[in-house]
Amino acid sequence: MLRRHFFRDAVAVASGAATLAVAAKAGAKALKIPESGQVDPRDADFWRQVRQQFPLNYSRTYLNTGGLGASPQVSIDAVQEKMNALEEISEVGHSHDLWQEIKRSAGRLLGCDADELAYTRNTTEGSNIVCNGLPLERGDEVITTTHEHVGNTLDWIARQKRDGIVVKTFTPSMVSAKENVDRIEALLTPQTRVLSLSHVTCATGQILPMKAIGQLAAAHDLWYFVDGAQSMGMMPIDVKSWGCHAYATSGHKWLLGPKGTGLLYVSLAAQEVIEPKFVGAYSGGGEWDMISTGEFTFGDTAQRYEYGTVNVPLFVGLGASMDFLLNIGIDNVWQHNHAMGVALKEGLNELGAEVLSPQQEAEHSSIITFKIDNMPYAELQGFLGRAHKLRTRGIYEGGLNGLRISLHLYNDFDDVDRVLAGVRAAMKA
Ligand SMILES: Cc1ncc(COP(=O)(O)O)c(C=O)c1O
Repeated sequence: MLRRHFFRDAVAVASGAATLAVAAKAGAKALKIPESGQVDPRDADFWRQVRQQFPLNYSRTYLNTGGLGASPQVSIDAVQEKMNALEEISEVGHSHDLWQEIKRSAGRLLGCDADELAYTRNTTEGSNIVCNGLPLERGDEVITTTHEHVGNTLDWIARQKRDGIVVKTFTPSMVSAKENVDRIEALLTPQTRVLSLSHVTCATGQILPMKAIGQLAAAHDLWYFVDGAQSMGMMPIDVKSWGCHAYATSGHKWLLGPKGTGLLYVSLAAQEVIEPKFVGAYSGGGEWDMISTGEFTFGDTAQRYEYGTVNVPLFVGLGASMDFLLNIGIDNVWQHNHAMGVALKEGLNELGAEVLSPQQEAEHSSIITFKIDNMPYAELQGFLGRAHKLRTRGIYEGGLNGLRISLHLYNDFDDVDRVLAGVRAAMKA
């Protein structure tokens, strides 16, 4: 059976395109975007309007988008409407047009084509697809950092154990982007095959120099995988300009999508090399023959990494979330987020807290990690949670023992002040 026949045969119900259009319009109507398209990062009224698009309540200050992003109502509604429509007729709802439409929104946020994107359940799945799909042999070396999340660490370690590859790490420098390129270069040997790095690290929100690292990877003919769990949806991305082969992210963090959604970018050229290990309906590209020839070919897009039945309403919700971000403008989101990050970092500096994130504005994001002398991070997290109703995340990665604050579009400068008030109180406790 041909892949396109598989799609044609899937019953097209309650057009996903229409659902997305309605969802995006609802957001656009409620939100008054200035005609210039540019929003002042400190326009409190505008960002309050944005916050009102979320059911997220004010019982606590939510500062953990790095762990899980809240979804706007428009996304939740899109999921529910699609699920209701599908359940009325008991259909999966998977259609080629819908799949492509949502991937085109993702492509606008990432700077790539729909055909270079696969749906996954999370960053961890994307990282596993790349790690296990690369043709690596015993003794081949992978370079990564000590500030990675387990989701982009354990797969490489498991492959080290199983296949004898060698995982080498460096601790990111907070001094300069250039120093990080130098640290990678110092680890290169004739056996180096892969660089696996976060765009924005989960530990300190540091922005690693993707382009310069890409140039190094190209010069040494290395596979270049980027963990984008902490960047897509937080800031504009032009993945092509980095020269990376693959980039994985989660829909449920900065993209504000339903939980259990993710995206994997694999360049068309890399798709020929990164072999799908889980294969089934949707991965195939043409006819197959189980009996006489055993012939099978993958599809000629990144959809080759998808397989089997998935929860279509969740991806419709992801599309609505991405359109919500695109409607506000990802540049506007980033200017707002980054300005809050700068304000928090400077406030913490003034208080005398130890900021573990880079000080240079070009190298830190809207995730700021810090610690204080008089209280271990876990205690500080408990104190801020109980006494100041702040939802934060402790950072044990890389032995940092700090506290992470994530600031996204539903946060505002009052939230930054709340964190600073809490830390001030903790320092006096
Ligand atoms: C950098 C990074 N990679 C991977 C992950 C894993 O994400 P998920 O659980 O959505 O796969 C996280 C989660 O916080 C992360 O920060």
